[in-house]
Amino acid sequence: MACSSSEGFWRLGLLAAILLRDGELMLAVVDATEVAGFSLPLPYRLFFLLIEPIATLLGAYYAFFNQPTYLNLTHAASAPSPVPLGTSIALSQLANLYFAFALTEALVLRSTSDLRVWKTVLFCLLVADFGHLYTVSVLGPQIYWNVFEWNAIDWGNIGYLYFAASMRKFTGFQVNGADTWLEFHKNEFQPKPFGDYDVDIKIECCGVCGSDLHTISGGWGEQNFPLAVGHEIVGTAIRVGPKVTLIKPGQRVGVGAQSYSCLDCRQCKNDNETYCQKQLDTYGAVWPDTGIVSQGGYSSHVRTHEHWVFPIPDALPSTVAAPMLCAGLTAYSPLVRNGCGPGKKVGIVGLGGIGHLGVLFAKALGAEVWAISRTHAKEEDARKLGADGFLATADKDWNKEHVMTFDLIINTANSFEGFDLDAYLSLLDVHGRWVSVGLPEGDGIKIRNQTFLGNGCFIGSSHLGSRKETLAMLQLAADKGIKTWVEEVPINEKNLATIMQRLHKNDVKYRFCLTNYQDQFGA
Ligand SMILES: NC(=O)c1ccc[n+]([C@@H]2O[C@H](COP(=O)([O-])OP(=O)(O)OC[C@H]3O[C@@H](n4cnc5c(N)ncnc54)[C@H](OP(=O)(O)O)[C@@H]3O)[C@@H](O)[C@H]2O)c1
Ligand SMILES: *[C@@H]1O[C@H](CO)[C@@H](O)[C@H](O)[C@H]1NC(C)=O
Ligand SMILES: *[C@@H]1O[C@H](CO)[C@@H](O)[C@H](O)[C@H]1NC(C)=O
Ligand SMILES: [Zn+2]
Ligand SMILES: [Zn+2]
Repeated sequence: MACSSSEGFWRLGLLAAILLRDGELMLAVVDATEVAGFSLPLPYRLFFLLIEPIATLLGAYYAFFNQPTYLNLTHAASAPSPVPLGTSIALSQLANLYFAFALTEALVLRSTSDLRVWKTVLFCLLVADFGHLYTVSVLGPQIYWNVFEWNAIDWGNIGYLYFAASMRKFTGFQVNGADTWLEFHKNEFQPKPFGDYDVDIKIECCGVCGSDLHTISGGWGEQNFPLAVGHEIVGTAIRVGPKVTLIKPGQRVGVGAQSYSCLDCRQCKNDNETYCQKQLDTYGAVWPDTGIVSQGGYSSHVRTHEHWVFPIPDALPSTVAAPMLCAGLTAYSPLVRNGCGPGKKVGIVGLGGIGHLGVLFAKALGAEVWAISRTHAKEEDARKLGADGFLATADKDWNKEHVMTFDLIINTANSFEGFDLDAYLSLLDVHGRWVSVGLPEGDGIKIRNQTFLGNGCFIGSSHLGSRKETLAMLQLAADKGIKTWVEEVPINEKNLATIMQRLHKNDVKYRFCLTNYQDQFGA
């Protein structure tokens, strides 16, 4: 038998496979899956580590050193030139083995590449397989039937790799129910299926939003437990879908509180996607079709449609940027949509996570900014944040001097305890605007029609912001050196319980940001 040109295919394939490999041992590769935050299923590990190498070596041994037995095995009594055949079979076995390693390591385990690379390598593997089939064609058609089983195993292996890649699990700190909201459990969970527009992000840090607390403590009612919350996420894009154009693998990116909308309706088409009727939250939402509940950023990874994945400007440290993705945006969007800028007097009610970023952004947009807090405890901080003035609602007649002078007030209060809406609204000039972004628990407060009489003010609300606004906000923060005030806390069960209690007591300046993810989920 002539050394056919198809042998060239596997030699090329072999070379490509060796180039793809970076020389790590098999075991190191499997260990790497653990630290990457997901693990290979046991049957596949057994197959990969034990059965496949032994079968390959046995195949190579028989083909190369014990050809009569091999030829008997394959019923190929009349092989014209045994040596090239043996070489070719040994080579093809090796090629397949190396390819399996290369595939597993480069694509499944590390998952640093996108599906296009994955498909290309699979294509090379198929070429190698067909090259093998073509070479043995000199043995007559019967040979195909006899080697069919091996090839079935090879192809099954490819299928399994693909399957393993798509079924990869993430790990996160979940709460099991509102009655045990301070108990966080490190669990594996299944993300939604990887879509063409999806980006897998390895999380580096995550801010702790007031909404996380409302959600796990049951303040907002029933939730889909077990649940990992967190929607102020910064990390690295490690895998992008074949149709992704906005994000590149390796890029530092962020994800906020929204992770889906239809991108097709009237609202989605005019940068109001946050108000789309099909919008889905980053955590606690049920993905249509699969029933999978979305899990947030107290986790190893997050899988998000590219529209809600935002490149982070280099100038912004990760823990500074993370809280901007929910708290910052929630303040920024209503500010820009309601004319915050030079010549405007803007109030920010509540100096918490959203409120302190509200002061920073309103100032950066050029307005005269007043922080409106309950007591004087945060006055000095408010001035450091850049507030031009400070009002404490605990003071007698706190509003009198400023009645009918504000153009816009953003309300971030997360409770209605002792909340005197009429006193706040009296601050607004004629047709001034009151925009509430806080989402207190309970039934809310009564609003009388007479409330609006004095100044004809408008009251409204605002939900997060658009992709465009997110990018503009991050750029503004980078350009003006805006810094979130963060308390960094390493993520673990104990710290999560502690910071939730502290947030509950309003004891944070002014945002917790969970860090040291590598200690829990690997590098
Ligand atoms: N609309 C949206 O898109 C959106 C997005 C994210 C979050 N949220 C909601 O916004 C709210 C605030 O979130 P956050 O993360 O900023 O919370 P946070 O860090 O806990 O801050 C809330 C602040 O509200 C003030 N406050 C609390 N109780 C009050 C009361 N009874 N009367 C007046 N002020 C009160 C406090 O400020 P002082 O100590 O200065 O008084 C507190 O620091 C939460 O309800 C959250 O769920 C809404
Ligand atoms: C949002 O919708 C409103 C009402 O249709 C429209 O006026 C506005 O331009 C839209 N987009 C933004 C970014 O506000
Ligand atoms: C306010 O006015 C609306 C519309 O006229 C009316 O339906 C409602 O009952 C009034 N509410 C109060 C509390 O007076
Ligand atoms: Zn939030
Ligand atoms: Zn829509």
